[in-house]
Amino acid sequence: MEVVRTISDVRQRVSAARREGKRVGFVPTMGYLHEGHLSLVDLCRERAEYCVVSIFVNPTQFGPGEDYERYPRDPERDRRLLEERGVDLVFAPEVGEMYPEEPLVRFRIEKLADHLCGPRRTGHFPGVLLVVAKLFHIVQPDVAVFGQKDFQQLLIIRRMVRDLNFPVEIVAGPTVREPDGLAMSSRNAYLSPEERARATVLYRSLQRAKALIEGGERSARSVIGAMRAMIEGTPGVHIDYIEIVDLEELRPVERLEGRVAIALAVYVGPARLIDNLVLEIRGDDVREIPAL
Ligand code: PAJ
Repeated sequence: MEVVRTISDVRQRVSAARREGKRVGFVPTMGYLHEGHLSLVDLCRERAEYCVVSIFVNPTQFGPGEDYERYPRDPERDRRLLEERGVDLVFAPEVGEMYPEEPLVRFRIEKLADHLCGPRRTGHFPGVLLVVAKLFHIVQPDVAVFGQKDFQQLLIIRRMVRDLNFPVEIVAGPTVREPDGLAMSSRNAYLSPEERARATVLYRSLQRAKALIEGGERSARSVIGAMRAMIEGTPGVHIDYIEIVDLEELRPVERLEGRVAIALAVYVGPARLIDNLVLEIRGDDVREIPAL
């Protein structure tokens, strides 16, 4: 495994792999890796002979007052984990390599960023698309792997790829959880032991929602109300949003029928955590399905 810091080094290594006839896979990350990230690496290796991982805490996707400066970083540990997992190339650029000057061309997203995290973190998804588009141009992967944990991000990236004809296949990996259900996240590092215990309420509220729907509840408002009551009953925790949306345009639904995502963002102490569950509801039949 090689770690490179410049765009020209990435291009050189990837071209060499391609000349050997290898399919190129790519997993973009912001580092401080956990088993969720590593599960995407495993998927990448199943689908490509040459696996590239980027580690870059992207400043353009953080808003003012968000956690860009304190975002956790541990490059040595990341490097070791990726080497163990059989990654071929790590791209870990400095900010100046990715943004030598202020970018003057930006993305604007219609509809898909109108709900969920979009209106609460304006500038976030345009910043994600900016860096992912740049990384796709730098790495030129055949396949790129993203996690369903960041469900809205996944759908917006997939749409960018379709709308702008990027020659890359987008693959989604399921959310990897701790044994008690908490979705793995680099931001879990912000939690004290007490907050860590409370943070399981996100997953528990999603399971409660699923149980209600399995029991025949079809009103989104009722399900959201039950989740809200459960989370508000947990001290030190406050809700940013709970929404149930369709999978096409990510618009809130009233009746629970067809394919829907139940998504929430909750502040637990200093950490803003997100989670989601994607369900297909056909008559009495309710099942969890992949987002893509
Ligand atoms: P980051 O939060 O580091 O996540 C990198 C990838 O890992 C994303 O595709 C994310 O959905 C996935 N991931 C995170 N937690 C996961 C879990 N518990 N199970 C499975 N997959 C998980 O998402 C970003 O970075 C950035 O926005 C990025 C796409 C790299 C652009 O800067």
